[in-house]
Amino acid sequence: MIASLVRRDFFSPRVLVTLLLAIALPAAVAAVPSFRPGELWPDDRGVHLNAHGGGVLWHDGTYYWYGEHKVAGGAGNRAEVGVHVYTSRDLYHWADAGIALAVSDDPAHDLARGCILERPKVLHNARTGKFVMWFHLELKGQGYRAARSGVAVADAPTGPFRFLGSFRPNAGVWPENLPADARRPLSAEEADKLQKLKLVGGPVPSFPGDLVCRRDFAGGQMARDMTLFVDDDGKAYHLYASEENGTLQISQLTDDYLRPAGRYVRVLPGEFNEAPAVLKRGGKYFLFTSGCTGWRPNAARLAVATSIWGPWRSLGNPCVGTPEQCANTFESQSTFVLPVQGRKDTFIFMADRWRPKDAIDGRYIWLPIAFENDVPVLRWHDEWCIGDEK
Ligand code: DGJ
Repeated sequence: MIASLVRRDFFSPRVLVTLLLAIALPAAVAAVPSFRPGELWPDDRGVHLNAHGGGVLWHDGTYYWYGEHKVAGGAGNRAEVGVHVYTSRDLYHWADAGIALAVSDDPAHDLARGCILERPKVLHNARTGKFVMWFHLELKGQGYRAARSGVAVADAPTGPFRFLGSFRPNAGVWPENLPADARRPLSAEEADKLQKLKLVGGPVPSFPGDLVCRRDFAGGQMARDMTLFVDDDGKAYHLYASEENGTLQISQLTDDYLRPAGRYVRVLPGEFNEAPAVLKRGGKYFLFTSGCTGWRPNAARLAVATSIWGPWRSLGNPCVGTPEQCANTFESQSTFVLPVQGRKDTFIFMADRWRPKDAIDGRYIWLPIAFENDVPVLRWHDEWCIGDEK
C-alpha cells in the first residue's frame, strides 16, 4: 500500500513542493552565516581556529586574523609554533593562511621555542607599505618577568614576518603626565619599599604610585598585555599593561610603526588593568580592559577619553546580563575591538575564553557592541550576525 501511495503521489505538485522545500530549506538555513560565541569555530579545513589573544587587520578587501597558535595541554600556554594567520572576506568564514611568524629553534633567540608570545597585533603602514606586528614577549624560562615588546615586519599580510627584536619600550623617556618634580631616580629608601611589596602582576591594597615607572626609567617600561590602535590621522599607538600590571601606558609609535616615538602617558595608575582593546566613535575613545586574575575571567571595565592622551575616565562594567555574566565578562577576557568595514559605527568585541589546561581548545567570544546613550554595551548572544544583533 505504501509502495502504491509513493508511486501514485510521487509526481504530484504537493509532494514535489514538499520534497523541494525539504531539500532546499536546510541548505538555505545553513547558508546564513552567523557567529556562535564559545562554540568550536572551524576554518576552511574543518579545524578549530587557532588564533588566540588575537587581532584583526583589514587590508584591500580582506580581513586577516592573527593570534597565538596554541598546542594541546598546558604546554600550549607557551609559544611552541608562533603566530597563526587566517583570512576572510566576510568575518564568518576563515581560511588558514599558515604561520605568519614562527618561533626559533635557536635556544638563544628571543623567540626560542617555549618562550611566551601573546596578543599579537598587526598594522599596515601606508608610508612604507610594510605590515608591522607587535606582541607581548616573555623570554624562555623567565616566567612573566621580562615583560618585553616584540616587533616583526613583513612585505605581505600573511607574512612571513621577520623578527626585528624585542625591548622594553620608552627606555630613558619620562611619561608626559609624570610631574616634573617626580622625574628622578628612586632613592634607596624608595627602592627598598618597592622591593618589600613583592609585586607580581596582581592588585595590591596600596599601589606605590610612580615608583615602578621611575624604577624602569633607564631600562624601559614593562610591557605585557597589549593592543595597537591607529587613529584617523594615521598615527599609531601601543597600549600595554605596565608597571607590574598596575598601570596602563599609551605610547605613540614612530611613523613607520617600528619603534616607540618617545611620547607616552600613564593611564589609570594603580588600577591593575590588562587586556586592553580600543575603539573610537564620535570623537571619543573607549578602552575595554579586564582586571588581573591570570587565565581566570573577571569583570570587564570600560574607560572613555576625548583624546588618546587622556584624561581617561572609568565608566564601570560594560556588560549587561546576569550577575555571573557581568562578573566574568561572559567567561572571557577582551583582546581586540574589530571595526566592521563598510558599516558605520559597527564594532565587534573580540575576547578569549581561555582553556589553560588544554590551551588549543580556547574559545572565541565575539559579541556585537551596542551603543546606549553613546556608551558601548555588551550583551550575550548564543548566535548572531552583523546587522541583526537584537
Ligand atoms: C592574563 C593575560 O591577559 C593573558 O594574556 C595571559 O598573559 C594570562 N594572564 C597569563 O596568566
